[in-house]
Amino acid sequence: MNILISGGSGFIGSNFIKYFFSKFNNFKIINIDKLSHSCEVDNLQEFKDNDQYEFIRGDFSNSELVENILNNHNPNYVINFAAESHVDKSILFPEEFIQTNILGTFKFLVSINNYFQNLKDSHKEEFKFVHISTDEVYGSLSSIADPFQEDDKYYPNSPYSASKASSDHLVRSFYKTYNLPTIVSNCSNNYGPYQSLEKFIPLIIFNALNKKNIPIYGNGKQIRDWLFVEDHCEAIIQILLKASPGEVFNIGGSNEFQNIDIAEMICNQLDSISPLVLDNNKTSYSSLITFTKDRPGHDKRYAVNSSKIKRMLGWEAKTKFEDGLRRTIDWYLNNKEWVNSMHGEKYIEWIKKQYQ
Ligand code: NAD
Ligand code: DAU
Repeated sequence: MNILISGGSGFIGSNFIKYFFSKFNNFKIINIDKLSHSCEVDNLQEFKDNDQYEFIRGDFSNSELVENILNNHNPNYVINFAAESHVDKSILFPEEFIQTNILGTFKFLVSINNYFQNLKDSHKEEFKFVHISTDEVYGSLSSIADPFQEDDKYYPNSPYSASKASSDHLVRSFYKTYNLPTIVSNCSNNYGPYQSLEKFIPLIIFNALNKKNIPIYGNGKQIRDWLFVEDHCEAIIQILLKASPGEVFNIGGSNEFQNIDIAEMICNQLDSISPLVLDNNKTSYSSLITFTKDRPGHDKRYAVNSSKIKRMLGWEAKTKFEDGLRRTIDWYLNNKEWVNSMHGEKYIEWIKKQYQ
């Protein structure tokens, strides 16, 4: 069995490939990734000489390249992780999000659909295209509203979420119009190892350890639902193996916290693991917390109702937030080489200046 993965070198994709190989040894994974700014480091070095893994550096919107890959490898499944994923960047450079998340996904869908339509019936029956999307497509919740359900309306508020919403609609249209067997998953905020430093949790850890200010947008009372990346990977496997074409699944961690509380929790954990000394005095990392200008269009709250995936596929998030956070902090502390080889620091500093 072969799986074609797009965007497999990024945060969730690389965690997925590692997790998948820890569970299965009868699949080959072909990963096409253009290695954009969010992943300049090879997160999948360990599979370099593994016959069951092949990396192709390239753009998923390059129809000729994708057609060659499909003809050479005849994948049974395709999982699409490839995207521009950073909300702040989408506010400053929206066009890249339209190019990749809308046009790129469209071109990828066309290539996959051409391949699918020419498969033998037996191969067609098992084929699936899983599209990894986000809870942000549903927009923002008030603090008392019920969590997002799969049939809620789409109300995207940032160029990122609007581009992901468009990609979800395109995927759905290929299912309805061409019978391409697609499944869409909309998950909440992931956290864990290998997440790029531009995102909230890694940025807090990185800045704290480097005695830099920890930037909190606005009043810090926005709420996110945090999902440990390994739990997300398990959900994708359940979808790949058990879900029916045309389905949509919400995937959440049931860990809703205000941003300021997340920052305090990380600071508290770091205070006991690696105490901060400033001007010869021991102090808490929370002294680095700094409130900055708010993100334009900042969504107040995301929360996801995951009862459908639990009911239909038997999946639920298993990792307790304190444990997942501790594993994440330990990973960043123990992988300084990875952190230092991320060339994104200048980029992050530049982005942050736009928010001062
Ligand atoms: P990421 O930015 O770490 O990874 C995205 C990957 O896609 C990168 O490796 C990048 O090089 C690749 N890519 C970008 N453009 C490409 C192109 N044109 N061709 C080939 N590869 C390309 O992001 P992530 O956090 O791993 O997110 C993966 C997917 O999950 C995205 O679709 C994102 O929208 C979605 N998602 C992420 C989260 C989260 O919390 N991180 C939550 C919900 C949904
Ligand atoms: O909900 C799923 C989405 O989660 C994914 O689709 C996106 O790809 C992913 O990036 C993430 O989007 P967010 O905007 O929620 O994540 P981010 O890590 O950028 O920010 C999390 C929260 O923290 C958000 O409310 C903004 C805030 N924040 C973020 C940064 C980077 C700060 O207060 N300060 C910061 O420096």
